[in-house]
Amino acid sequence: MGRLRIFYASMVGKKVVMGVTGLIGVGFVIMHSLGNLLVFRGPAAINSYSHFLKSTGELLWGLRILLIVAVMFHVIAAVQLTLQSRAARPLAYTKQEHQAATVASRTMRWGGALLLVFIALHVLHFTTGTIRPAGVFSPDDVYANVVTSFRIWWVALFYVAVMVALGLHLFHGAWSSVRSVGVSPPSPQPLHHRISFAIALLVWAAFTAVPIAVAAGIVR
Ligand code: HEM
Repeated sequence: MGRLRIFYASMVGKKVVMGVTGLIGVGFVIMHSLGNLLVFRGPAAINSYSHFLKSTGELLWGLRILLIVAVMFHVIAAVQLTLQSRAARPLAYTKQEHQAATVASRTMRWGGALLLVFIALHVLHFTTGTIRPAGVFSPDDVYANVVTSFRIWWVALFYVAVMVALGLHLFHGAWSSVRSVGVSPPSPQPLHHRISFAIALLVWAAFTAVPIAVAAGIVR
């Protein structure tokens, strides 16, 4: 335990924690976005997938706990790293010129905070049914919950907008996670990281397709 604490106290330790927990998040969003595509195969497909997941009981809870712990560590390490780097440079740069930095890398903090708020609202919306924009919620009918929600234009728009933030966060995050855990050598050219770009694009497209398809009347 002592060694782990010493490791975590260093900036490198926190970056490794961010990288590992970020990769857990990447794995989750890949699986979740693929699962969501089942709405295109109709109510039976996505509802039986949801029932199957819920029937796994302890396995599902194990995964939920892993995700909650990963998100907590990811956020705590991000806040601590931000505070540490601010303390190291109490005076802001008077002139900043972004070179290799992309929109994605410059919006990691705000985008991350937005995603955190989104996750809380999203679980209250689709998992617990506490927030009911359409006024109805059925724990056994995921398909109906998705369709009734995204028929409301501002709900669909909110999800589509947040998915842009997710795509950007994933693009920079997937690339820097791999770097932080030491798999890939440092490179000044983030735009060349095709794998991160492909993951971010595919996950963004898969998530975004669902509210768009419902709003457009393709899925009804
Ligand atoms: C348009 C995009 C999305 C749609 C349509 C969507 C849809 C859903 C639905 C229908 C559920 C409930 C599943 C069930 O009860 O079987 C759910 C659960 C969940 N979603 Fe999403 N989701 C989207 C994006 C996201 C994103 C970007 C994240 C995370 C960054 C996320 C995280 C979660 C979590 C944590 C749960 C709760 C899982 C559980 O423990 O039961 N979702 N989502």
